Amino acid sequence: MKIKGLVLSGGKGTRLRPITYTGAKQLVPIANKPILFYVLENIVNLGIKDVGIIIAPETGDAVKQAVGDGTRWGVDVTYILQPEPAGLAHAVKIAKPFLQEDPFLMYLGDNLIGADLRRFYERFITETPDAQILLKPVEDPSRFGVAEVDEKGRVKRLIEKPKVPPSNLALVGIYMFSPKIHEAIAEIKPSWRGELEITDAIQKLLDWNCLVLSDILEEWWLDTGKKDDLLKANTIVLDEWVKREVKGEVINSRISGRVVLPETAKVINSQIRGPAVIGKHVIIENAFIGPFTSIGHGSKIVNSSLEHCVLLDGVEVRNIERLEDALIGKHSRVIKNNSLPKALKLMIGDDSVVEIP
Ligand code: G1P
Repeated sequence: MKIKGLVLSGGKGTRLRPITYTGAKQLVPIANKPILFYVLENIVNLGIKDVGIIIAPETGDAVKQAVGDGTRWGVDVTYILQPEPAGLAHAVKIAKPFLQEDPFLMYLGDNLIGADLRRFYERFITETPDAQILLKPVEDPSRFGVAEVDEKGRVKRLIEKPKVPPSNLALVGIYMFSPKIHEAIAEIKPSWRGELEITDAIQKLLDWNCLVLSDILEEWWLDTGKKDDLLKANTIVLDEWVKREVKGEVINSRISGRVVLPETAKVINSQIRGPAVIGKHVIIENAFIGPFTSIGHGSKIVNSSLEHCVLLDGVEVRNIERLEDALIGKHSRVIKNNSLPKALKLMIGDDSVVEIP
């Protein structure tokens, strides 16, 4: 059976503004690697060779530039432009010329899971359902698509972002479909948020008594749509997947635990305590870098102490006594200038957050 991959990397990423004004939310790095790359690795590991990537007009070029033609992963990538964020089912609709009548794995490009999909994928091949979904118990199901299941765990009903959720089982953004899904999508109408919901299309399959299977995801799942989710994802990935690899220049400094320090990075009179990932061409001087921190390429940290932070590329932090739980966008500068009177001098982009104790 030939199975294709469909990765959704469109959308506006409104919940991650201002970070996503200039970039795609799927390209935000976790442990210095774009979320989308973890997604592609998971797909490639299943042996899928044809991958369609849905892109938006605003961020499509950045996604294309980061991913390229797929050679790096040994897959063929086809880009499909979704002119407006008109819903996940709409994305499948416009991907039809790419998908044709082949079954496919659909993966939302901002979903990160702590598992491989081997068992899920093989079950689909063996039991040939029309849809197969992945569920995860969560504390706040109203933020997601939610499944109502019977005593045997069979899906009875699916509802998108219900005010009163029938269970705590959220739909993870990873699905498998037979070509029957196209018929179901043709029958649904836009939801209250004006989108063609994939949740409604799967509900249609249930209405038609088609076979819809579900698995519970035992490992962690993070939908990286918001700052706290992103910091949490960074913490988990650093904790579970990072190995010590110190190649950079270390002068009069201590590097302890699982720290990635590439050849071109330089640490002077400082301490780094892992797990932490430092980008290429980073300079760390008279600083303390605490656990669960990712520092983007080309950043500079001087006379500062930071911990549990995600810094994107080209960030400068200077004279900051303690920076914690921070997410800092590309080429931003956080600087305390001791020669100035005790006034804050700020230049802050739209939708930024500045918390001052
Ligand atoms: C989408 C789906 C929702 C699913 C979620 C997972 O929500 O509509 O059913 O639970 O992804 O990330 P959205 O991100 O579009 O709000």
